[in-house]
Amino acid sequence: MADPKRAEFADLLREDRSFSPPPEFTARAVVRDDRIYAEADRDPEAFWARFAGELEWSRRWDTVLDWQPPHAKWFVGGKINASVNCLDRHVRGPRRNKAALIWEGEPGDRRTLTYFDLFRQVSAFANVLTSLGVRKGDRVAIYLPLIPELAISMLACARIGAVHSVVFGGFSAESLRDRINDSQCRVLITADGGFRRGQIVALKQVADEALADTPSIENVVVVQRGHAEMPVHIKEGRDHWYHRLMQDASYKCDPEPMDAEDMLYILYTSGTTGKPKGIVHTTAGYLVGTYATTKLVFDLREDDVYWCTADIGWVTGHSYVVYGPLANGATVVMYEGAPDWPKKDRFWSLIETYGVTVFYTAPTAIRAFMKWGTEWPKKRDLSSLRLLGSVGEPINPEAWVWYYHFIGGDRCPVVDTWWQTETGAIMITPLPGVTTLKPGSATRPFPGIAAEIRNERGEKVDVGGGLLALTRPWPSMLRGIYGDPERYVRQYWNKWGSGVYVTGDGAKRDADGCFWLLGRVDDVINVAGHRIGTMEVESALVDHPGVAEAAVVGRAHEIKGQAIAAFVTVKEGTHATKDLADVLKEHVVKKIGAIARPDDILFTADLPKTRSGKIMRRLLRDIAEGKALGDTTTLADPAVVAKLKANYEEEYG
Ligand code: WTA
Repeated sequence: MADPKRAEFADLLREDRSFSPPPEFTARAVVRDDRIYAEADRDPEAFWARFAGELEWSRRWDTVLDWQPPHAKWFVGGKINASVNCLDRHVRGPRRNKAALIWEGEPGDRRTLTYFDLFRQVSAFANVLTSLGVRKGDRVAIYLPLIPELAISMLACARIGAVHSVVFGGFSAESLRDRINDSQCRVLITADGGFRRGQIVALKQVADEALADTPSIENVVVVQRGHAEMPVHIKEGRDHWYHRLMQDASYKCDPEPMDAEDMLYILYTSGTTGKPKGIVHTTAGYLVGTYATTKLVFDLREDDVYWCTADIGWVTGHSYVVYGPLANGATVVMYEGAPDWPKKDRFWSLIETYGVTVFYTAPTAIRAFMKWGTEWPKKRDLSSLRLLGSVGEPINPEAWVWYYHFIGGDRCPVVDTWWQTETGAIMITPLPGVTTLKPGSATRPFPGIAAEIRNERGEKVDVGGGLLALTRPWPSMLRGIYGDPERYVRQYWNKWGSGVYVTGDGAKRDADGCFWLLGRVDDVINVAGHRIGTMEVESALVDHPGVAEAAVVGRAHEIKGQAIAAFVTVKEGTHATKDLADVLKEHVVKKIGAIARPDDILFTADLPKTRSGKIMRRLLRDIAEGKALGDTTTLADPAVVAKLKANYEEEYG
């Protein structure tokens, strides 16, 4: 290995090693032996009901599960409030003055909120929302940077039974507009701005653009970050400063007793069509799923300092920054900004400063850390860590071993957790006190979860590769796609009978029963752990007046997992220049957001199509990855491909 940074850990790269849990870890772990798997399999409903019983209900459920495939109702007849379980329950006991949120902004500003602080602010803001006319079942859009008010807003909605729809702060005005309109939100909660790599992200300005075309929004609440350079226009009557509204709000707010199956939130995610879909989660099952998985997978102890680096704009932040850890009464670290700002040791400095014990991040970040070099983590004291997690994309064994050694000091188990926006909670994962770890494998289904590999015909594959399916309902499963009940069935439950959930991921299962995730098999790509639909990017490209046709594929990328490669044909009279490529990249950013910016754009006279006119993305992916081309016999014109490949290599090879 020529690269000295790689040579430093070359001897670690033996992929066939496995790591059994350190005995001292197991001795104190929440789960200490693997009987829990058999117990959960014997009676999954009783297993989940055990965790439900640890939560606080205003009315206990009558029936654990009502399963009319593919429609599930969990904890039928139960009444429960998510904010009560995340706050009131702790405030009444010894956790009252425990830190709930330890927040650090990118510029270095800090705030710590105890459970009592958080409880007061959530209740007060819940009253504010009520005073703005928000009622049970109304949708509230939230477009905020990673600041405490984001968690406060979500829990305030949950308290009064409003449905939150959080939109990641990196999404464009158009993306925000479409999400608001799809679910007809009545209120938008935003901020003057946030920070990213020292730059100001002027959220209110972006929101204003969206608000020009969102007739359902009656009121806008603006959190003041108060930086002089954040441009804010306040529209009288519609826009209100958060801090003003909070000034006279009472912090006494009776929680709404929600039906177990009442909607808790909507979160939009990319699928195989041009339009993101609103994934619906309901109250009790979601809470039970996130509560149980957080407790067992992250092995929570009372004195842990838990940090999941995800933005709350994604499902990982919903489940493992807000609901799961707060339902467990954990101390949660929240950091607003980038890992390399102002220096490449920001994450390690946060771990040192706050004494983080459990750390959960994405493979993309780990691969970036590897590239930046071990001098950064070595400068900091990481000895408080006892458990590491990974999520969002397949973790390559090299990154796993690096993480284990350089961050975890060979002492912390690494839990590689597989799940999706749709699953609500972790589905395949080690349990750190019991599972023997294999770098690169998410190991086993969580107790009570039934996962299988199936071939195209739907036959179960015991050892080998195929499509990953979940064959039994679970409490935190999505209940639908907002406004599109038919698509819910077609998209997830239609391939092999109505009781089998199709994940869209390829995977293999080894002889020990361990699962190895291989990435998406549909038209969804995963760029730096973010889900992007190829069709979304294609629609954004053809929206530009100069573009006739576009085909987008994901190609392997050393750090981001996948990068976006776009093949574009232009309309007559348009010149395919380098400038146009830049314009098109910006056009996609404007339409969707910076996460969807294509890495490569290749202009071409033709796209490879089958005789029936379907674009052959597999071929395009091979071209973008510089692979030898596979079978082209079904192509309408094989010459197109050879030419494309030559051009691509000239441009990017
Ligand atoms: C991928 C994020 C491999 C997978 C929680 C899935 C993973 C998609 C892993 C969901 C993992 C997530 N190993 N792949 N540990 N975790 N994925 O909805 O392709 O943003 O289908 O949820 O991310 O992305 P989503």
